[in-house]
Amino acid sequence: MCGIVGYVGSRPALPVLLGGLRRLEYRGYDSAGVAVVNHRLEVLKTAGRVERLARMADPSRLTGELGIGHTRWATHGAVSDRNAHPHVDCTGRLAVVHNGIIDNHAELRRELEARGHRFVSDTDTEVVAHLLEELDQGDLVAALREATRRLRGSWALAVVSARQPGVLAVARQDSPLVIGLGDGQQVVGSDVTAVLDLTRRVLYLRDGEVACLTAEGVTVWDADGRRVERAPTEVPWEANAVELGPYEHFMAKEIFEQPQAVRQALAGRVEPGSGRVDLRETGLDPATFQSFQRYVIVACGTAWHAGLVGRHLLQRATGRPVSVEIASEFRYGDPLVDSSTLTVAISQSGETADTLAAVREARRRGSPVLAIVNVEGSSLAREADWVLYTRAGPEVAVASTKAYLTQVVALHLLAAWAAPRGEDTGLSLLQLPSRIEATLGLDPVVQEVARELAGSEHLFYIGRGLDYAVALEAALKIKEISYIHAEAYAAGELKHGTLALIEPGRWVVALATQRSLSAKTAGNVAEVSARGARVVMVGPGTSPARSELEPLADRYLPLPEAPEPLLPMLAVVPMQLLAYHAARARGCDVDRPRNLAKSVTVE
Ligand code: G6P
Repeated sequence: MCGIVGYVGSRPALPVLLGGLRRLEYRGYDSAGVAVVNHRLEVLKTAGRVERLARMADPSRLTGELGIGHTRWATHGAVSDRNAHPHVDCTGRLAVVHNGIIDNHAELRRELEARGHRFVSDTDTEVVAHLLEELDQGDLVAALREATRRLRGSWALAVVSARQPGVLAVARQDSPLVIGLGDGQQVVGSDVTAVLDLTRRVLYLRDGEVACLTAEGVTVWDADGRRVERAPTEVPWEANAVELGPYEHFMAKEIFEQPQAVRQALAGRVEPGSGRVDLRETGLDPATFQSFQRYVIVACGTAWHAGLVGRHLLQRATGRPVSVEIASEFRYGDPLVDSSTLTVAISQSGETADTLAAVREARRRGSPVLAIVNVEGSSLAREADWVLYTRAGPEVAVASTKAYLTQVVALHLLAAWAAPRGEDTGLSLLQLPSRIEATLGLDPVVQEVARELAGSEHLFYIGRGLDYAVALEAALKIKEISYIHAEAYAAGELKHGTLALIEPGRWVVALATQRSLSAKTAGNVAEVSARGARVVMVGPGTSPARSELEPLADRYLPLPEAPEPLLPMLAVVPMQLLAYHAARARGCDVDRPRNLAKSVTVE
């Protein structure tokens, strides 16, 4: 989704802005632009990639130590040069970049046009430029504060004006914005990856706040115009954590980083000798966690799939009902949540608008919120009552991999902590990193399988219980990046309709990791094979299970020996690799799938 970057300091702004925009590319976008201020404002923008913008940029024209940049993910108005940000006022002195949606843009536009302003784009954002033109009496920050009082909706805004060549004005409402504090220079970005090249000292702007950035420092005001004093925080990520290193794609890097990500997720939380899980860092205690009558998990996309695994685990641990809601649907079902319900929100970014909206609704109804989140300082982390960090490190590829696995690990930890059963969960979890390493050894064979099925237009994934939750995630992965139509079914449900779609040559991917269910899943595999389907099966690597299952499949992907509760977490790894290699075989842009965004900050 849209990305914002801004710079004020003592070096040329253009390379810093382009560097920041490259860091934000992963969020998903369709156009890019920059505005740089020297004595005058210079704007350059284009539909297409940041690389195209960089090629077009003439550093001798775009000089200046102050500027803003933007990657646009179209909401209002088609993808075009004209609709790309930055947007300027009628005088061409002031430029704005925006992430979010201005809900009352139509009304404001009518008023502004009636007063003689000329609009050149179809965007909601352009009203902000014209509004600021009217309000700016020489103090851009005051004008921005006043302008935000007239806006409804969501925004992260960064504004520059040729009238004040040393001032970068920013504001936030329901869209993330982080300020990076440097020495003699400040930078702003939609997320920390955009500022990491310059600094790890950051200030997260909060809703309603407006800030003034100059080379010398940063001043923040709240919605009522009061000065805000807030200590900066140190980002725990290194700048090279967002570098590709030896990998061709971030997705591959992140798949292969999973053993390390899981190690971090477990560090200090499981006692090595006893296997006892300790999550006191969340501020919650097991008795409070157990005291709720119901649990509702809210999340989107991959995080929702992690939630489906969580339902099994938490229901078993608490003996109470656990439901999993798609966050964007949560509010419409008149949700039965109150102070006796714990809402568990799962999110990699902590900025997904639908998840935040669900959390706010739950809180409005009196339900406390536990967040399972990756990004420290994110909106979700701040708004929740308790936070369990997944510690996956920065995830750049749109298709989530290590974030998913660490979310599932966090849910296992939570379940084991809430209801310790002889501490064996903790001890098995400690084996997980080495078992993931072993599972990654399947890569060459998965690559072969991927080549075989990459020509398919339809795929089916089946599984039961936890394997069904994995099947849903596996199907989403391959859809997102290879554009193969894939559907996941509870294996027992196939015969109730979907079997009609099975024809000779159709590939079916079966997940059969759970001993108690594999005989039944095997029956469903036999049903599709009998109708000519070709089957890839993921199952245990050791017999007797393996010798029973392997003969049923055309291709069998054996998982390393591991305690059974870990197997679904291992099974997802070859499924991620399958999606990755299928996408490559089809020539797709793995890290930047069409139409998708990493961080979806609009509802
Ligand atoms: C987007 C991404 C998905 C992600 C979902 C939820 O749709 O493309 O990969 O699972 O948002 O994101 P979150 O940051 O809340 O986990």
